[in-house]
Amino acid sequence: MPRIGVFVGSSPLPITAEKMPVDLQTPWGSASAAPCKYTVGEYEYLLMSRHGEQHEFAPHQINYRANTWLMHSLAVDGLLGTYTVGSVDPVLAVGQLVVPDQLIDYSWGRASTFDDQLRHIEFTEPYDKALRQALLGAEASLFDGGVYACTQGPRLETAAEIKRLAQDGATLVGMTGMPETALARELEIPFAALCLVVNPAAGVSDDVIDMQALAEISATGGARMVEVLNQLAA
Ligand code: HPA
Repeated sequence: MPRIGVFVGSSPLPITAEKMPVDLQTPWGSASAAPCKYTVGEYEYLLMSRHGEQHEFAPHQINYRANTWLMHSLAVDGLLGTYTVGSVDPVLAVGQLVVPDQLIDYSWGRASTFDDQLRHIEFTEPYDKALRQALLGAEASLFDGGVYACTQGPRLETAAEIKRLAQDGATLVGMTGMPETALARELEIPFAALCLVVNPAAGVSDDVIDMQALAEISATGGARMVEVLNQLAA
């Protein structure tokens, strides 16, 4: 039975699942929350709220090492990062689900390696090809490809920052994609991302970002992600 760890972000997944009786302590400190086990068909999903059960950890405060390590210790076969994002590329409308194929890291000051000794990892393709293809095969409406830009947050960006990201080639912007993607690679866990567009990024539309609308779509968008998990397992 494939066991897939899922990092859940600002879009909670509306499912009832049994919380696993695990110790949150790892050699890297405490993980954000105990994963819940959600079984569909042959798949076992371990869902962990990366911001904590009360949404208490801002993107720069999350212990990404502990979260990834805990999933590793639970012997996951793959990891899926779910994210709410802003669209840098206006082609990506609010409500669109995207499976990016590249990323650029603009975050800083986050503990981003397990290695005390210098070790370089290969990271040309940050996302696992097979896991991406499995996701894309689960639902036809998913957008294939894109460049996820990880900013530091917790504030949203300025219009000039988003313009720079666009010039760099980014199509999506979020705050939590790194370092978890690289940490998974260090532990040799296949990793893919599933992003829900919740707003046009700063300056992409003529209007200022509607924070109320952003919160509303984040609150309801998780249902769409659950559909993808269910289809993946079908
Ligand atoms: N910027 C960064 N992170 C985000 C955004 C955004 O516009 N929307 C949702 N997460």
